[in-house]
Amino acid sequence: MNVYDSERMYELMQPHGYIVTNNYDDADLIILNTCHIREKAAEKIYSELGRIVPYKINLYKKGKKLNIVVAGCVAQAEGKEIIKRQPMVDIVVGPQTYHRLPELLNTISNTSERIVDTDFPIENKFDELQKLRNINNPVAFLSIQEGCDKFCSFCVVPYTRGAEYSRPVKDIIIEAKDLIKQGAKEICLLGQNVNAYHGEYNNTVLSLDKLIFEIANLEGIQRIRYMTSHPADMTEGLIKAHGEVEALMPYLHLPVQSGDDQVLKAMNRKYNSTEYLSIIEKLRDVRPDIAFSSDIIVGFPGETDRSFENTLNLVEQVNYSQAYSFKYSRRPGTPGSIMQGQVSEDIKTERLLALQEILDIQQCEFNSAFIGKSMEVLIERRRRKDNLLVGKSPYMQAVHLLEDKYDIGNILRVNVFAADKNSLKAKSVQLLSKAAN
Ligand code: 5AD
Ligand code: SF4
Repeated sequence: MNVYDSERMYELMQPHGYIVTNNYDDADLIILNTCHIREKAAEKIYSELGRIVPYKINLYKKGKKLNIVVAGCVAQAEGKEIIKRQPMVDIVVGPQTYHRLPELLNTISNTSERIVDTDFPIENKFDELQKLRNINNPVAFLSIQEGCDKFCSFCVVPYTRGAEYSRPVKDIIIEAKDLIKQGAKEICLLGQNVNAYHGEYNNTVLSLDKLIFEIANLEGIQRIRYMTSHPADMTEGLIKAHGEVEALMPYLHLPVQSGDDQVLKAMNRKYNSTEYLSIIEKLRDVRPDIAFSSDIIVGFPGETDRSFENTLNLVEQVNYSQAYSFKYSRRPGTPGSIMQGQVSEDIKTERLLALQEILDIQQCEFNSAFIGKSMEVLIERRRRKDNLLVGKSPYMQAVHLLEDKYDIGNILRVNVFAADKNSLKAKSVQLLSKAAN
């Protein structure tokens, strides 16, 4: 979601004469788009600001101004605290109001005024942003839903991103058509809780499965994905869509968080391990090759050795193609942060390592099972260091290609001849679909 927001901010600034630089030395505007989900991520921003400030002072000495903007969920959560802690920050803008950025920059130009804008505005951010989409990648993100009403007891998202909101179907279809026209072959539908989508459509409401059918009908679309989903919102219809929509890729990020029923209850996840496993089974019934990824938290308050073992058992049963794992981080204002039974840092580290060992093995095994097999790959980019083509498999693996004769946006049939934990190596055998432009 932050990658998506950063791209939108860039598109927003382009018409005002801004271009991207990778060098702080060249910048007259620096936007830090921040994440508040775990303490470490949130703290990073202050050390990064410390690195930026000398550039501001340098420019100031030359009679120029470097504007520093803090955007994202840390901005939303900490607001004017950020300016108190780092007075060199000019603008603090939350995820719901960053479309106002050009206007805010205009307001402070040639003044020493500072602005904090963390409203939840009435005007629609997406109406402002939709006109500006300008992609140069065959994979496009399309935000269809924002916010979350689930209130998992460890999570800050419902507080920073606000209540659930689903964009109307009509707007999404217009944007999807535009993305395809600009060369998108794959669209990834985004939302904090994407499968809770319920968007307005001709005076009725459409759920995510119905929206996926609508998008699959658009001419030129080759691949559809969606993330991130909550297991409790995996409806029968959505599960069925995985067996019926050819463009819907056989990969699903379905965070389980824990494999222990008591911990899941304390996390307020609204499902138990049996229910989660039954969703996995149903999805495998309709789409036998589907791969699963997950988010898993270790060391949630009250997690015992026994509960952690239950998590390991669930991981063994699902057999993930990849997963993200985290030590529980106490976030102020969330119910988890004041629960009894906080787990020590040492135990969290021990459990994280044990879990990651199993996940790494599963990921390696998943990838190496493709050696000697053929698959379809969408070429996404060239690797910076050696210009090699890199694409994505249907199962979200990075695939490196040795040939050079293809273009970004091509879809190829390839033979896989090598694999490691993070990628596959393959040779192309057939061009299936050309780049759009
Ligand atoms: N501590 C650790 N991990 C967290 N996540 C969310 N909140 C916390 C927290 N307080 C993880 C969850 C979520 C992912 C995006 O981040 O696993 O799915
Ligand atoms: Fe956070 Fe996801 Fe739970 Fe919402 S469903 S509170 S975003 S972990």
